[in-house]
Amino acid sequence: MAIADKSRTTAETLSAATIEAYRRQGFVHVPGVISRDEAEHYRAVASGLAERIHSHHQGTVFTQLVNVWPQDDEMKQLTFHPNIAAIAERLAGVPLRLWHDQVLIKAPHKSTPTEFHQDQPYWPHANSTHPLSAWIALVDVPVERGCMTFLPGSHTHTELGATDITDAGGVFGACPDFAWFPRVTVPLRAGDCTFHHARCVHGATPNLTDEPRVAHVVIFMDATATYNGKKHVVTDPLGLTPGQPFDAPYFPRVNE
Ligand code: SIN
Ligand code: NI
Repeated sequence: MAIADKSRTTAETLSAATIEAYRRQGFVHVPGVISRDEAEHYRAVASGLAERIHSHHQGTVFTQLVNVWPQDDEMKQLTFHPNIAAIAERLAGVPLRLWHDQVLIKAPHKSTPTEFHQDQPYWPHANSTHPLSAWIALVDVPVERGCMTFLPGSHTHTELGATDITDAGGVFGACPDFAWFPRVTVPLRAGDCTFHHARCVHGATPNLTDEPRVAHVVIFMDATATYNGKKHVVTDPLGLTPGQPFDAPYFPRVNE
């Protein structure tokens, strides 16, 4: 009998307890969605890409490369990694499609925290109640290198508007109850991933180490999502009509 590799997780080995934790907390740590060797390969590709392509945001919080998969065939392999999409669909429990991906690099020593926020209010989506992000560590990310912190249960607050990732008070002003939620900080080994619901409040610590923090984030929305007309860097160039469904080729179904 083959011995299961306990350091790797697939959609088949994902436990019922992990799925239950995701749905209760709005986030979960999934070890080994890719191997350490794969993580190192994609770290090198992502770091090279940051030198080559336009960054959507370059500031003290992070360098943010948005929608890299249409621009780079190697990163496309990671964004469309069958294990990541399959785990995302098991966690969400509904059919998903790709929204977009992002490379997020926190520079050594210079970075500031990513302040607490929800993701969904930034997005031009209607009819998407199970959106989630796979945040894949491409290097070891201890607390000191800029790992994520989550507020368990905050994903049930679906009424809030967008807040600023440089404003430490933003989301707490929008929902004062959040000040009394526990905060769970999740260091990750290279190749590990956290999945978080787009309404789960999260932030990240600054990178105080000598090495860049390199993460790749793959973001999914419900397959039923429609465009609501709000401005967004991914949809603005596409000329979508409010009310229209998101569809391939830009927003393909995953795991089909
Ligand atoms: C970060 O990686 O610093 C933040 C990621 C996120 O907001 O999803
Ligand atoms: Ni976020």
